[in-house]
Amino acid sequence: MNKTENQMLIIFGASGDLTARKLIPALFNLFRDKHIPENFVVLGVSRSNLSDTEFRKKVAIESLHLKDQVSTRELSLITSFSKKLFYEDLGDNYDTNYDKLAKRIGDLNTKFSIGNNFIFYLSTPPSLFEAISKNLSEQNLNDETDGFKRLIVEKPFGYDLETAKNLNKGIQKYFQEHQIYRIDHYLGKETVQNLLVTRFANSIFEPLWNRNYIHHVEITNAESNGVGSRGGYYDNSGALRDMFQNHLLQIVSLIVMEPPIAANAQEIRNEKVKALRSLRIMNDEKTLNDNTIRAQYVGSKINGEEVKGYREEEGVNPDSTTETYAAIKFFVDNWRWKDVPFYVRTAKRMPTKVTEVVIHFKTPHHQIFQDSGVLNKDNKLIIRIQPDEGILVKFGVKVPGQGFKVERANLDFYYSDLEETKVMEAYERLLLDAMQGDATLYARADEVEAAWKFVDPILNYWKNAKDVRMYGYSAGVWGPKNADNLIDGIGTWRNPEENLADDPGFCVIC
Ligand code: BG6
Repeated sequence: MNKTENQMLIIFGASGDLTARKLIPALFNLFRDKHIPENFVVLGVSRSNLSDTEFRKKVAIESLHLKDQVSTRELSLITSFSKKLFYEDLGDNYDTNYDKLAKRIGDLNTKFSIGNNFIFYLSTPPSLFEAISKNLSEQNLNDETDGFKRLIVEKPFGYDLETAKNLNKGIQKYFQEHQIYRIDHYLGKETVQNLLVTRFANSIFEPLWNRNYIHHVEITNAESNGVGSRGGYYDNSGALRDMFQNHLLQIVSLIVMEPPIAANAQEIRNEKVKALRSLRIMNDEKTLNDNTIRAQYVGSKINGEEVKGYREEEGVNPDSTTETYAAIKFFVDNWRWKDVPFYVRTAKRMPTKVTEVVIHFKTPHHQIFQDSGVLNKDNKLIIRIQPDEGILVKFGVKVPGQGFKVERANLDFYYSDLEETKVMEAYERLLLDAMQGDATLYARADEVEAAWKFVDPILNYWKNAKDVRMYGYSAGVWGPKNADNLIDGIGTWRNPEENLADDPGFCVIC
């Protein structure tokens, strides 16, 4: 197991939602499972006026996010854990003089023998990343002479290619690339990492993993929730920026990439970036029109209960043209994937929450069992990212009796069958990796930029083109009906559940 050196985690934006909801519970689990080094403290930093005690109460002792996750037996552990938490009020502004903050960090460093190893976690709007990096560097808090200094940044990493480049440049003025960890919590999911193992630790899949055997690849990311209280943020973002550019293209890169020569951060990320660069960029309006679909959920009734439409959500512009559904068909221009279509969709207010990758294999080229009923039932490899994490292979078996009637059977594995194994939460895994200096599951600058390069023309087309449609779908259905046209000729999307809306409807909004 890698060693975790003594260190301090300094969280900027510590009074925000993410700290209490994700970071502190993840750190608590690491503490409980004895992954935290002997000398370790967390210093929360933000603009709220809180004492150490108030911060401990807010994010740990009285936090439901933590209490709901732990057993009664572990409640006393929360108190011991909370003693590792401290707080520093930055005043009105993150872009200020960090003398006082540096002094506090120095004092805690000495008191708890931290050894000058610091991780700065920026859970703030990206517009502050550069200013915070600069202010830290003015205090020499980027200097690794006597201990490591790492910077973890949260998404959104850019609004488009240009802003992502500027953000990278802005941070890289003060921190070197090896110090920067861009978090994408999907990479922390066990099943996403298992994509690498499925492909490269087995000799039965990789030989088939190419255009000779794969007919098409389908990825669905569905959420049953709407935008909830995040309408203000989401309305300036949309499904393409919020999910597709980062989480889904990360998954795509793991499916598309060539085998890395070793399982380390540099080699894996080199292959991922090559994969992202090989996505065929869609530039002309006709291609963009034929291969992209955007939509918004509209109000409906689910089990007799009214569900709000997107435009009625709090913080959302009533005339908004922000998509809550995006489906994209694209190709990958390289030797392995030539002419294999990829279909990727992501949306809110679907019938269920599910993320899965479906590899559809080609039908055998010489059909012996023509009357068997097997046609149109291709072999499928289904990688269930969440929930019911696992893998399923669908293949044909003979129906007992005369003749050669073929039926589909499943070969499956579910993580829940591994009773002894505790699956780490994404943030737990990612924080521990950063604490150990392993950036394999973090996005590198060039990966992020390659992803934006692919997404930018779609965003521009949706924003500027004249006749681009915005479809409506009832909350609780699998998106607009015409999304199946994207898969024209080869069937429909694989929908793991039935529609939920009492009266499913589809429309053209604009
Ligand atoms: C976040 C998006 O990055 O991922 C949210 O901003 C989305 O809009 C969330 O709901 C989904 O994450 P998960 O792990 O619940 O699939």
